[in-house]
Amino acid sequence: MTDPERAPASFPEGFRWGAATSAYQIEGSPLADGAGPSNWHRWSHTPGRIAGGDTGDIACDHYRRVPEDVALMQDLGLNAYRFSLSWSRILPAGTGTVNRAGLDFYSRLVDALLARGIQPCATLYHWDLPAALADLGGWLDPGIVDRFAAYARVVFRALGDRVPLWATLNEPQVVVDAGYLHGTHPPGHRNAAEAAVAAHHLLLAHGAAVRVHREVGRGKIGLVVNLEPKDPATGSPADRAAAARADAYMNRQYLDPVFLGSYPQELDEVYGRDRPRVPPEDFRRIGEPIDFLGINYYTRSVTRHDDSVPFLRAAPVRVPGGLYTETGWEVHPESLTRVLLWVRERYGNRPLYITENGAAFADPPAAEGGRLEDPLRVDYLRRHVRAAHQALAAGVDLRGYYVWSLLDNFEWAQGYSKRFGIVHVDFATRKRTPKASALFYRDLIRSRGDAAVSPPPP
Ligand code: FCB
Repeated sequence: MTDPERAPASFPEGFRWGAATSAYQIEGSPLADGAGPSNWHRWSHTPGRIAGGDTGDIACDHYRRVPEDVALMQDLGLNAYRFSLSWSRILPAGTGTVNRAGLDFYSRLVDALLARGIQPCATLYHWDLPAALADLGGWLDPGIVDRFAAYARVVFRALGDRVPLWATLNEPQVVVDAGYLHGTHPPGHRNAAEAAVAAHHLLLAHGAAVRVHREVGRGKIGLVVNLEPKDPATGSPADRAAAARADAYMNRQYLDPVFLGSYPQELDEVYGRDRPRVPPEDFRRIGEPIDFLGINYYTRSVTRHDDSVPFLRAAPVRVPGGLYTETGWEVHPESLTRVLLWVRERYGNRPLYITENGAAFADPPAAEGGRLEDPLRVDYLRRHVRAAHQALAAGVDLRGYYVWSLLDNFEWAQGYSKRFGIVHVDFATRKRTPKASALFYRDLIRSRGDAAVSPPPP
């Protein structure tokens, strides 16, 4: 508990302490109550696409366990929860007829959260696209921009009175990179020209949804991006240029158009100079002012020049002696501070949320008494919350922190093999058991961050 003699609580009153999840990763019952299939439903049922042949058919069974899961959030002391909506539950064909039962599911979730004092933050698109729209060309089809706006309108009308925080897209970079350049996510393409088009349509769709929000929505709306500082492996001009390309491709590609009205020039080197010119009008549509930026931060990347890597000609380098998670990501909390300061420096002092931060580690088996010790995750959280605090102390307008993830869940192409949860899920019984990291997070919230910023001496 906070010692009143010590410095004032580390994080301001009203700071949001949350956990994040996404629809396809936790809900299960993907076709229940009139929902249409999504691209991820189809993809996970395609042999060879997901590690272990896993699917989201049951996942954490959250669809049927909302009361239990919201009670768990309250036990952990969360005052915020970030989740995503499944477009194909609400509009089974992606457009046209609304499935009332799909909307009602989210409406009940929102009511349950509010009843327990937990602020809902809803993401419209966390990668699961109605299969019917995938058939029309997915993010390559210019028509998707208006369809996304129409979907947003349905949702804002139904839930806008109760959801104070909205995100349009989650990590458009991953949608593009994994879906259209590397083929590890649906639609499984490997085509740089397509990647550029998909990125542009995602950004236009984001802007269109923000405009609809200004018209019919309430609360605040923003965009969620994944940011990863790219550090050149050496001081050589080639490595520095490679790091700059990788930074342009991963980070600036999704922020410059929104805040600065242009694409980074290095993208010409990635996609080729002959990609279509963007009319200035598009940047006006993409740059519709937003209320906050959500940042998903997991790691940094030390980057070197590598001609054998198509398009980017850049490759990550493993740092000797570095600590790596099960997904092969270096644990580097200092880069969280850096990234927050960089955003302020480049794009202005805007309200920011850390909308995801967390780590997959192989959790040891339950100890005596059923306690689940995950010291590496505890340490990861402690160090990253402290790093976030450093940015806050430097004046960054940071409003909240959401740990990824509340529950162990379906980690996309890796299936259930990677556990990010602060709460363990037994995938045979769906039983939830808070890990030591969940209890640490609960204490951290109680102490308003003190337990990370000035932990008591051991
Ligand atoms: C992010 C995704 C999230 C989860 C974490 C580990 O890129 O937004 O759904 O997969 O990574």
